[in-house]
Amino acid sequence: MSLTENSHRSYNCDCALDFPNLKSSYKWITYMQSNFEQNLLKIESDTKSSITSLDHESALEDLRISVLGRRGSLTLLLRSISDLPGNERQSAGSSANILKSELATMFDEKLKEIISLSQADSNLGETFFDVSLPGRTISSGSLHPTTQIVRDICEAFSTMGFQVLEGPEVELDEYNFQKLNIPDHHPARDMWNSLWIEGDSTESISRLLLRTHTSPMQIRVMESTQPPIRVLVPGKAYRYEATDATHEWQFCQIEGLAIDKNITFANLKATLEAFARQIFGSRRKSRFRCDFFPFVEPGAEMSIDCFKCDGAGCRVCGNTGWIEIMGAGMVHPEVLKGVGYDPDVYSGFAFGMGAERISMLKHGIDDIRHFYSNDIRFLDQFSSSTTGRS
Ligand code: FA5
Repeated sequence: MSLTENSHRSYNCDCALDFPNLKSSYKWITYMQSNFEQNLLKIESDTKSSITSLDHESALEDLRISVLGRRGSLTLLLRSISDLPGNERQSAGSSANILKSELATMFDEKLKEIISLSQADSNLGETFFDVSLPGRTISSGSLHPTTQIVRDICEAFSTMGFQVLEGPEVELDEYNFQKLNIPDHHPARDMWNSLWIEGDSTESISRLLLRTHTSPMQIRVMESTQPPIRVLVPGKAYRYEATDATHEWQFCQIEGLAIDKNITFANLKATLEAFARQIFGSRRKSRFRCDFFPFVEPGAEMSIDCFKCDGAGCRVCGNTGWIEIMGAGMVHPEVLKGVGYDPDVYSGFAFGMGAERISMLKHGIDDIRHFYSNDIRFLDQFSSSTTGRS
């Protein structure tokens, strides 16, 4: 029960002021009682409403001192109880003490509330974030441009019935050279500056090297499979050579091989032209010219008309109007014999291209070294958000 309710029951004597004919001593006593009660009620209502409205610790403490302090309003009122008639003191003192402890509790609770609110405010300050700020883009990883072009090329040949497979990067001399019609000490070995693996026997045919091209896979496939064969072999190749804008010591090649009865150079041309149209667009023209590779006869190089000058001649194509994209040719009869195929029954074609060089042509990239420099500004141009592919 609140003191206010209690007080109304104990001190309901305002009537004393309305009856001037009452005994003067009685009037004085009731006047004192009324004054005490009024003061008590005023202190109660003022203090309670002030406590409720305050939200600062220091203001609350000031209020507490002004009410409950040594010279506080309630303290002084309590002291004035001694001026009341003896029979009224107990009930007045009890009412005032009830109010005193009630207010003390209210002060304590309010203080706790203010402290916890200010702690919450300061925590909020530490973790504050502005919900109106625009969100940050989460950059996701993407396929390396070499992987992207390898996938595109594989897809182009898959639609023509080629199977995709991979082979070892550490290769035997036997497969990298000898079975490709390049015996020991043959001058054609100079076409491929090799990185040999140390510590292996140098006497036998089993010398190891990092494969200089993907052509050894022609032999591995033919040795393990009977025609008809249509395979595409993407993979790393390594060469011991200085790097420049078009040469890396490590790059990706894509080998193609097709063996069957009655395969002709016309099939080779048609297949590679279809590939070029799919990768470079139907506007690009292609050209085949004689070239030499020991494992094909006849050998050829395939070029497309320059994407930069449309064949007119510029710095990119060395003013020729053409850019070479791969080596190719009909599989050499000696190679077919070497794997146990009868060259009078079977024939086939093979080709090998550099994946980065194709990507350079397709995207107008001027330096192959960008592919391996891990420069995020270069790689970002091939991210799915830029190219729209995932
Ligand atoms: C060869 O490696 C033959 N094996 C290709 C071949 C296969 C011919 C089947 C006939 C039949 P070549 O050394 O030209 O050939 O390399 C083929 C392609 O690999 C080049 O056209 C070029 O695109 C790419 N290439 C060669 N050397 C590098 C290099 N250092 N850096 C980047 N790409 C290279």
